[in-house]
Amino acid sequence: MTVTINGVTLAYSDQGQGKPIVFLHAFPVNRTMWEPQMNALSHTYRTISIDLRGHGESDAPLWRSTMKQFADDVIGVLDHLSITQATFVGLSMGGYVLFALYRNYPERVAGLVLADTRAQADTEDTKAGRMAMAQVAYHQGAEAIAELMLPKLFSPATLATKADLIQTVRCLITSTKVSGMVSDLMAMADRPDATDMLATITCPTLIIVGQDDVATSPSESQFMADRIPHAHVEMIPDAGHLSNMEQPEAFTDIVKSFLKKL
Ligand code: MLT
Repeated sequence: MTVTINGVTLAYSDQGQGKPIVFLHAFPVNRTMWEPQMNALSHTYRTISIDLRGHGESDAPLWRSTMKQFADDVIGVLDHLSITQATFVGLSMGGYVLFALYRNYPERVAGLVLADTRAQADTEDTKAGRMAMAQVAYHQGAEAIAELMLPKLFSPATLATKADLIQTVRCLITSTKVSGMVSDLMAMADRPDATDMLATITCPTLIIVGQDDVATSPSESQFMADRIPHAHVEMIPDAGHLSNMEQPEAFTDIVKSFLKKL
């Protein structure tokens, strides 16, 4: 399904009935990364996944974006669906969007699941890396970005045994438009530090991380858990950065037990 929000056509999936759960994807993939969780949870919940602008079946305008813009788009989709409050699950860049969403629309958030993400802003080195990656995307295309990113996204166990999953993620990356990648990279480089707001998060919050995540490490998850009231970390063995795809059942079970307690 699609809807035009803030001048941009956004694609989303809306499955099942019940309390709404909204899934926000990582860079530089799309909403299909949440299929295992959508399929498992839509028996009991209304599950919504959204292609952020620049991704999947959404428009990819040749323009810069911000985490606030992504959050405004998500709220626009929820307004269209008449959803006033939801539990949000965001992985990595999806988590960065959730910080902007909570900062601007706390009343819309019933619960937060922050997966394989971090609160800190980019360092100067990381920003320079984003700029270099944008140049690679522009000059060499999405395949070159897949080559750079794939080794950093998975645990050693996944790399050794799940060739099909790696191929699936390669396709997700190579199907992403360069304009989308570049505007994500600018948005991530410019995002504000969320450390100060962690203590102000009052909704139930769960933090999930793959034990072998090298992109957003377990220590960064613990950093958030130490500052968000009542939050705790669930670590998934044999998972790296894309923990929900590498260990879909474990990830879903953890989210399920969190949702049951809400
Ligand atoms: C992501 O998975 O969304 C990115 O790796 C996040 C980042 O580069 O900071």
